[in-house]
Amino acid sequence: MKKLAILLSGRGSNFQAIADAVAAGRIHNAEIGIVISNRPEARGLEIARERGLPAVCIPSQGLSREAHDRMVVDQLRKLEVDLVCLAGYMRLLSPLFISAFPHAILNIHPSLLPSFPGLNAQRQALEHGVKITGCTVHFVNEALDAGPIILQAAVPVKDDDTEETLSQRILREEHRIYPEAVDIVLSGRYRIDGRRVIFD
Ligand code: GRF
Repeated sequence: MKKLAILLSGRGSNFQAIADAVAAGRIHNAEIGIVISNRPEARGLEIARERGLPAVCIPSQGLSREAHDRMVVDQLRKLEVDLVCLAGYMRLLSPLFISAFPHAILNIHPSLLPSFPGLNAQRQALEHGVKITGCTVHFVNEALDAGPIILQAAVPVKDDDTEETLSQRILREEHRIYPEAVDIVLSGRYRIDGRRVIFD
């Protein structure tokens, strides 16, 4: 049985999609060992507790990035977590964190990377005028939204889209590809060749 950790800061809808996939066996042979939020008010923490999953807040406010990451890493190590899934976790990870889990940290980003990294990716896409955007699941490395790409899904931009309507359409695809990527990574059915993630 592989153990997942979910790190989040807010709403937690991607976490829910992963939890549903674990419960339904679409993510094989896995359990969610812990849900960690850096913000006490995160809705995702409540959802975890409602589902009977272990959930803790490790507040980041007032701590240096390293000091906070060390507390999170200690917790993950203690639980012998196999894979860390960032799901709306609004923190950059320190090198200390990344080196503690080599090729075992995933993130989802609401654009077709390398376009529109960073905050407000959907707004960036609208402002740039692209006709197609989407979402990306990738390994986390030390640069922002830049690690090897595991899965992407394309989403059309409509002429009358607002940031909200576009975000909603992208979110549906996020909820589809994130669990799929988690299953692939946990199963080990891939190799990494430079920046490319090749499926076996
Ligand atoms: C998602 O759009 C995700 O791509 C981005 O942050 C948002 C988190 O939403 N990284 P949720 O908390 O999973 O609902």
